[in-house]
Amino acid sequence: MSAYEDYTAVSADYDRTRVPIGVEIILGCLAAAAGGPLASMRVLDAGCGTGSYAAALRPHVGAIDAVDINPSMLEVARAKLGRPPGCPVALHEAGIEALPFEDARFDAVMVNQVLHHLPDSPREGRPALRRGLGEIARVLRPGGAAIVNICSHEQLRSGWWYAALVPDAVEAMRARHADTGVLIRLLAEAGLDPRGRFVSSEALMRGDAYFDGRGPLDPAWRRGDSLWSAVAEAELARALGTVRALDAAGTLDAFVSEHDRRRPSIGQTGFHFAVRVPGADRGA
Ligand SMILES: C[S@@+](CC[C@H](N)C(=O)[O-])C[C@H]1O[C@@H](n2cnc3c(N)ncnc32)[C@H](O)[C@@H]1O
Repeated sequence: MSAYEDYTAVSADYDRTRVPIGVEIILGCLAAAAGGPLASMRVLDAGCGTGSYAAALRPHVGAIDAVDINPSMLEVARAKLGRPPGCPVALHEAGIEALPFEDARFDAVMVNQVLHHLPDSPREGRPALRRGLGEIARVLRPGGAAIVNICSHEQLRSGWWYAALVPDAVEAMRARHADTGVLIRLLAEAGLDPRGRFVSSEALMRGDAYFDGRGPLDPAWRRGDSLWSAVAEAELARALGTVRALDAAGTLDAFVSEHDRRRPSIGQTGFHFAVRVPGADRGA
């Protein structure tokens, strides 16, 4: 279960707004760690959601296992991944902190936009995140690739135009996300050697929907980004009031452009690439 987002309710709308950005980055990381052709790689999608990343990767790799803790998200994934093209995808209802696979089973593990949902305590050193990274390391073969897609604190504050509307929620989300330096340290501690962090300049929300200044007025649009689930009622009322006022003044598009100006350079999320250290202790 996500610590704060109701993915049972979100599952029906999720694909309406979200797009799997950075697939080319993931493929590059797989190629860098591949011991042979990509088409023979066995990949785990940890926290697969509706299966959009698995669907994008399956024409390129040999086999995919995909796990998620939410049955409704898996149901959408099942409908999407039951059709060709691509390799077989096996779906499993399971959590990242206890993966149902034997040691060293995978050539690569990707985890896209999941780790901030773990019920964690930054004050206690993020034990759930450590367990998750330990599990990823355990199921990777030595030399295998871990790709961790997560927003940095800077991206959360400055990579989304609507962050300016809901500053309190942004601060709450920053606390839930391990920032870049922390994540790099925890990857290394889990036996995953950090090799780089890559950023896509694309927006995570689908196409023009992201630039829709009136979007926040629509609950289905807001469900495309769990930032909105951290917005308290009073802050939501203020944010929607601001949107309506800007719209009435004819300045809503200018507001969107102004607050989106850093996204093309800093991106909205980063892809950490790390390689399973041969001989490191397994698990956390
Ligand atoms: C923002 S969605 C990302 C889905 C997909 N990876 C994507 O990028 O489109 C977060 C997903 O993480 C799943 N999730 C949350 N906590 C989890 C856990 N402990 N183990 C596995 N999946 C989890 C949720 O059910 C949800 O499907």
